[in-house]
Amino acid sequence: MDEPRIETQRLLLRTPQPEDASEVQRLAGDFRIADVTRSIPHPYPPELAQRWIERCAEEWASGAAANFIITEADSGKLVGCMALKDISRGEAEVGYWIGVPYWSRGYASEACNALVDFAFRHLRLRRLHASHLARNPQSGRVLFKAGFRHLGLGHAACGSQGKVEPVELYEQVSGE
Ligand SMILES: CC(C)(COP(=O)(O)OP(=O)(O)OC[C@H]1O[C@@H](n2cnc3c(N)ncnc32)[C@H](O)[C@@H]1OP(=O)(O)O)[C@@H](O)C(=O)NCCC(=O)NCCS
Repeated sequence: MDEPRIETQRLLLRTPQPEDASEVQRLAGDFRIADVTRSIPHPYPPELAQRWIERCAEEWASGAAANFIITEADSGKLVGCMALKDISRGEAEVGYWIGVPYWSRGYASEACNALVDFAFRHLRLRRLHASHLARNPQSGRVLFKAGFRHLGLGHAACGSQGKVEPVELYEQVSGE
């Protein structure tokens, strides 16, 4: 399948490229990102972004995931990442982060809405799920505004220390 691209009013979601590595490292290297995500270590090792970008291409080719760099359509600036992860049997997990300088502009909500549409209409997935740390409610707002349903509370190892913490669980089923 062709490399995916998603356009929204203000954003372009596109495939990660090798030249994105330094900006991914700079933005994902902020502790406030690692603190509330599952797979971002802190400190962020120099070669990790490059390895992640290579893996993104492999995952898209094998159908395992669709990883996107989020850029501002006007400036081309990289503002974050969003992904459909662990694609299997018509289901996927949604994950994302937005660089701290770009918070509170509605970018995550705008991108997540478009990603859900892409997942159901373009990839024909049937169910999406997502979770966020209970102490990170702004992520829940992103999911709620993108049509996700709150399922309840669970526990998961999260954050850069891998500590088990309460997480809020969400799902969205195609056509509901
Ligand atoms: C969660 C995150 C993706 C939100 O990105 P964003 O682009 O700022 O989100 P939006 O601007 O679309 O706003 C979403 C909601 O969060 C709220 N919000 C945004 N920044 C906030 C802040 N610093 N403090 C409190 N609330 C905030 C907004 O008010 C909005 O809620 P509303 O619709 O009720 O007003 C971003 O904060 C982030 O990357 N955090 C670290 C990584 C992370 O949490 N990833 C998700 C893991 S599950």
